[in-house]
Amino acid sequence: MPQTMNLATVDDEYGVLNRTVIYRGLSNDNGIIYVTQRFTRNYKNLKANPKACFTFYWPKLMVPAEGAEPCVWQVRGLGATATELAESELDALWSEEVLATRIRALVFPCGEPVEYEELKAKHDECLRQHLSSGRPLERPDTYTAFKFQPERWDFLKAGVGAIADRVQYRRQDNGQWLAMHVAT
Ligand SMILES: Cc1cc2nc3c(=O)[nH]c(=O)nc-3n(C[C@H](O)[C@H](O)[C@H](O)COP(=O)(O)O)c2cc1C
Repeated sequence: MPQTMNLATVDDEYGVLNRTVIYRGLSNDNGIIYVTQRFTRNYKNLKANPKACFTFYWPKLMVPAEGAEPCVWQVRGLGATATELAESELDALWSEEVLATRIRALVFPCGEPVEYEELKAKHDECLRQHLSSGRPLERPDTYTAFKFQPERWDFLKAGVGAIADRVQYRRQDNGQWLAMHVAT
């Protein structure tokens, strides 16, 4: 399974809106990258207000040095600022997409009421044309990606019968990170 994260944005209709997205790796400056489409709410939200929070949740994380029992981990990025990646950086991400994702990016609308059979027919037609022509599926203009740079990183480790351990990294005005344990 790809690694997912929960992403919350400021939304002008719901106040705050969260969703699951796929973590796509780190940028050169250690930003957290995810891919989206320009017609989604998450895209529109981040363009209107680049502040966001994200959470990773690992319910059974094994740390060999800490024994055979798995622990629950949560990693949060607080007060993250989103920056859209440059067009030149998108081809590499598009080249990693599997066929089903490429077709979805090309033919499926997002958030609009839709008939399933209509969607499936569009999908099947796109797949048929691609297979019969052998032409690659080009990256659509709607395909894009953001990177996040948080003000704070928050690592929380919990376990059954264990005292939770939480470590925070707080970015200082001078760009340095201050690390400390905090109570949960
Ligand atoms: C496992 C999983 C992974 C997903 N990954 C992404 C993703 O990487 N990017 C994305 O825009 N939406 C992704 N989605 C869909 C979003 O959760 C969401 O439904 C969609 O982006 C519409 O969100 P919006 O209301 O912000 O527009 C994923 C959904 C699931 C269940």
